[in-house]
Amino acid sequence: MLLYSYNTGVFERPAPTDHPILDMLARRWSTRAYTTQSIEPETLRSLLEAARWAPSSGNGQPWHFLIARREDTAAFEALGSTLAGGNAWAKQAAVLMIAVASLDRGAGKPNATALFELGLACENMAVQAVGLGLSMHMMGGFSADKAREVCEIPERFQPVVAISIGYPADPNTLSEELRAKDLTPRTRKPLSEIIFTGKWGQAGGLE
Ligand SMILES: Cc1cc2nc3c(=O)[nH]c(=O)nc-3n(C[C@H](O)[C@H](O)[C@H](O)COP(=O)(O)O)c2cc1C
Repeated sequence: MLLYSYNTGVFERPAPTDHPILDMLARRWSTRAYTTQSIEPETLRSLLEAARWAPSSGNGQPWHFLIARREDTAAFEALGSTLAGGNAWAKQAAVLMIAVASLDRGAGKPNATALFELGLACENMAVQAVGLGLSMHMMGGFSADKAREVCEIPERFQPVVAISIGYPADPNTLSEELRAKDLTPRTRKPLSEIIFTGKWGQAGGLE
């Protein structure tokens, strides 16, 4: 289902949930079509502030973000150069980022949950983006090695995902192939496939 919200002026694809969830969660989706509107630094700061307030083990906050607004041509090209060919559409976004995890809590103290915590920070940002009329798309399809090279990321930090953010446009403006991806109905595995009670594989009546 693709909706045009006259309230926000944003194209939306609310999740067809089986049970009620928060509006902001249902409205988050991974857009590929962006308008040419840039993102003001103050708006960007709100996104990053949302990431900053994610929970983390021992409040270790093992997250970093390399950021480039489209206006910062050299930085934007550098981050764009790390994207896989299939994610070239992301270069139309107003902002590109690379989310980086700090893999240890100091010398010899590996942080086993660093990637998890970085994910929480990213999701905070994605939901904040919805509230600001923006859309954020995370991408595993990028070269971490290239990111390490072009952004001079030290060894103990791991580039984990690339991110594009912008004001969502009508997916009908995309190429046929991308449009098909963005207009395919949104689906999820049923609860019965992902929740068990007591023992693995045992249904407990919540599914
Ligand atoms: C860690 C991660 C990596 C992803 N990698 C890509 C990617 O490389 N290219 C892409 O188009 N989408 C990518 N996605 C977006 C997923 O395809 C998308 O979240 C999923 O299909 C569910 O759609 P939704 O976010 O619109 O609900 C990625 C998402 C996550 C969380």
